[in-house]
Amino acid sequence: MYEQISHSLLNDILVELKKKTKPQNLQFFHTRLGANFYAIYSLFNTLYGEHPDSKKHILHLVETLMRQYIRRPSHLKKIDLEREKDHNWFLNQKWVGMALYCNGYADNLKDMLSRLNYLQELGVNLVHIMPICDCPEGKSDGGYAVRDFCKIDSRFGTFEDFDKLVTNLKKRDMLLTLDVVVNHTSDQHEWAKKAREGDKAYQDYYFIFDDRSIPDIYEESMPEVFPETAPGNFTWDEAMGKWVMTVFNRYQWDLNYRNPAVFIEMLDIILFWANRGADILRLDAVAFMWKKMGSSCQNEREAHLILQLMKDCCQVTAPGVLFIAEAIVAPTEIIKYFGEDAINAKECEIAYNATFMALLWDAVATKKAILLNKGIQNIPSKLERATWLNYVRCHDDIGWGFSDDDIVTAGYEPQSHRRFLVDYFTGNYEGSLATGLAFGRNSQTGDARISGSLASLAGLERALKNNDPDAINMAIKIILLLHGMILSFGGIPMLYYGDAIGTLNDDSYLNDESKNDDSRWIHRPKMNWEKAMQRTQPGTVEYSIFNAVKKMISIRKEIPAFADRNNRELLNVDNPHLFVFLRFDQINSSSRVLVIGNFNDEPQFLDLSPLQRMGFFQYDSIKNLCNGESLHAMNGNLMIPARSFYWLQG
Ligand code: GLC
Repeated sequence: MYEQISHSLLNDILVELKKKTKPQNLQFFHTRLGANFYAIYSLFNTLYGEHPDSKKHILHLVETLMRQYIRRPSHLKKIDLEREKDHNWFLNQKWVGMALYCNGYADNLKDMLSRLNYLQELGVNLVHIMPICDCPEGKSDGGYAVRDFCKIDSRFGTFEDFDKLVTNLKKRDMLLTLDVVVNHTSDQHEWAKKAREGDKAYQDYYFIFDDRSIPDIYEESMPEVFPETAPGNFTWDEAMGKWVMTVFNRYQWDLNYRNPAVFIEMLDIILFWANRGADILRLDAVAFMWKKMGSSCQNEREAHLILQLMKDCCQVTAPGVLFIAEAIVAPTEIIKYFGEDAINAKECEIAYNATFMALLWDAVATKKAILLNKGIQNIPSKLERATWLNYVRCHDDIGWGFSDDDIVTAGYEPQSHRRFLVDYFTGNYEGSLATGLAFGRNSQTGDARISGSLASLAGLERALKNNDPDAINMAIKIILLLHGMILSFGGIPMLYYGDAIGTLNDDSYLNDESKNDDSRWIHRPKMNWEKAMQRTQPGTVEYSIFNAVKKMISIRKEIPAFADRNNRELLNVDNPHLFVFLRFDQINSSSRVLVIGNFNDEPQFLDLSPLQRMGFFQYDSIKNLCNGESLHAMNGNLMIPARSFYWLQG
């Protein structure tokens, strides 16, 4: 948009920058900057207009964008241009991801090279390598307490190893996702050290207070993220003699985005990793980026403005790079991280579908899809050019983040229902074979989240221990059912390393002092490659899971109706155990797939007559796309086996 004040400011800035830069071809940079500058200027002004050095900072901001553009390797600039032309590329059903630790899945970044074949064998073509930046020895929240954002932790390797890996991934047409921990730094970060030494400019990078008067006001309205291990939101720093805001762990200092210098530093880091070859950046803990006294300090409007500004800026320098919002918040809040009032995502193109994840686990525990149906119905529609990251498990705990209202309409009482879920997944409920651990138990509310590997939560660990073939079979079915849902729902499915071979809980973290107070480590094991070899041995658990998931992935890729183009319709069916939705191809309307998940441990029946009235299943036989088998309805009813799913061609 052309707007005179911002336009003339931009001209002044470019004249300034021209004096400092060698002449070169900045054509694409200029066209993008021209297109986005009004938005950048307006957002910057809203956030930082009152700052005394606002003008100086906006010059620095544009300088940062230009410097990083000049540094951007030409092959990445080429990809930017291709993705600009095919701007919905990431909505395609061909993408299937896996999240992993480079030192858990493999030994390190170098060793990752020898482990890429496994991913390709399974059909994974997007890899999220969990944090690799330099962290202090000992406690580092799994890499989320960064000491140096532009250095690779020596335990994982070097930039040389990293570059080789990136080149190899590109050759295999695999995408790379990396984390940028935007909300906080380690207390050992250079900025924190300078702050501790008394440098006022760096103290202003954080929330630092002489006494408890302001922290106490904040505490009145701020919830606790890790109530057991890190109660409260402030930590006394002995060396500095001051209180620091530490929403997560005591050693993670929250960044102060009221300071424009912090915004520009973090933007520079985002562009640094974009230029290193990341296709997608996972922005960690984005809901927490703006702190305001009297509020929960989550999901504040300004956090969204910051993300919009980051997006508008990144589009100028590295437009091919996407953002994932890691905002594990209420369903009505998550959706806002795509950007409101837009068709194209104006913040993050991808967001964790934490609601769907938690609802799936609810359906596993209740053996019914009542809350799942309600919860999905009530997720507001998302933008067209935005997509979900659908997952069953990740490196974090499972929180019961669905809404109380939905729990009530599903016929349960919120508090006791949440308690039931905790009991169920910790194996303290009759009939439950799950072996999870409670995480972050809040002694005041009794709430808890759940740690544990997918297989152990699905009951496989106990079934194996009991040597019970039926229970083993049922656990495998649950694992496949959950994958069948995330692979067909619409969005990018993100598998978790180890899940395709039924990895169980690993309690070796208890022997490590830096980990033993955080039960999330029970599901962050070292990949057992000997166990993975069993995937080639028919009759083993590993074989059954791996080959079924592999097949689903390859079939998913062939079904255009599984691309995410807001082409899903949830169907209301009479049977409370079933979750049924329709996926359709917007281009070829005759290509439709009906997805049915049966969460009960008894076979269930679906009355097909309403579907037949919609033009479905006009013939006697119905094709299950997962195995090519023909299914037959009996008296108009289709039987879906226990804990199973179908992808049916209409
Ligand atoms: C994110 C990460 C989580 C971490 C937290 C604090 O939620 O996924 O593992 O503990 O941020 O950095």
